[in-house]
Amino acid sequence: MRAVVTDGKGDLKFSDRPVPEPGPGEVRIAVAAAGVNPVDMATRDGYLHASVVPAGTTLGLGWDVAGIVDAVGADVTSPAVGTRVVGLRPDPTTPLGTYADFVVLPVEAVASIPDGLDTVAAASIPLNILTADQALDLAGPVGTLLVTGAAGGVGGYAVALAAHRGWTVTALARDSDREFVLNAGAASAIGTVADAGSFDAVLDAAALGATAIAAVRDDGHYVGVLPPAIPEPVRGVSAAAVSVRHDGGRLAQLLRLVSNGTVEVRVAGTLSLDHARKAQDEASTPGVRGRWLLTP
Ligand SMILES: NC(=O)c1ccc[n+]([C@@H]2O[C@H](COP(=O)([O-])OP(=O)(O)OC[C@H]3O[C@@H](n4cnc5c(N)ncnc54)[C@H](OP(=O)(O)O)[C@@H]3O)[C@@H](O)[C@H]2O)c1
Repeated sequence: MRAVVTDGKGDLKFSDRPVPEPGPGEVRIAVAAAGVNPVDMATRDGYLHASVVPAGTTLGLGWDVAGIVDAVGADVTSPAVGTRVVGLRPDPTTPLGTYADFVVLPVEAVASIPDGLDTVAAASIPLNILTADQALDLAGPVGTLLVTGAAGGVGGYAVALAAHRGWTVTALARDSDREFVLNAGAASAIGTVADAGSFDAVLDAAALGATAIAAVRDDGHYVGVLPPAIPEPVRGVSAAAVSVRHDGGRLAQLLRLVSNGTVEVRVAGTLSLDHARKAQDEASTPGVRGRWLLTP
């Protein structure tokens, strides 16, 4: 089978691999689509090789996957072979990612795709929706929330999920994204961070750092998306960053919010795995909205 890998030097390589076998507690997924996320481009360009894995290590690309379970480990009773599932790869340092014909994931990293949700489109969901939801867990008691990067992958879900939890959300987004963020559940939309110290919390999906933490009231909460780049805490504001974790149970709950229309799924486009590099370049274009997907 084909898999797209990288040595962290900026290139994508096609690798011919044996089809992986699921072990205990694992399922094999015949990939229908893999999502293209900023972390994939960062991995291609060496961020894991700079600090986490030795130089020269071959890493599989891709975290998000949707497809059909086509084999299960001996002890696995659910999901059954033939189930449509979506999942998040738990470990980005392995030689096989989701840019591949088949992947093996632990059962606890996958969720069944609800009826009515397209299998390919579902590949756009796991990384960003889990990041947004887990980030909100760090934002303190419900109140007023500023979401930066509110039209992006993480930010868009954050707006919808925060509104669903009862936050009064202000979305930082371009004028051209105003309608999207208001439809997603924001009470208001702004183009620049002007009101210093006025929000109970900020979810900084645009990684603005000091500019974003300045918007939080004294003793409020800042939640970032880049753990190595948390701004200096100021005025008693707590500063933390989310590190997304696979969680099939939570993903299943969040998919219900997709199914009932609380959360909108956005797909920018779909390309075949052969065009993985082009999909990454398209996904890196400023202003792109929704995820690019790769189909085998
Ligand atoms: N820690 C974790 O577990 C985790 C998990 C997932 C993602 N992330 C990180 O989260 C970040 C966001 O990911 P994403 O998938 O949401 O990216 P994305 O879809 O590209 O969205 C980023 C958003 O931020 C906006 N933005 C960027 N710079 C801005 C600026 N200076 N001022 C205002 N808005 C700005 C972008 O607007 P324009 O397109 O208009 O420029 C876009 O709407 C990435 O750095 C990603 O690596 C972290």
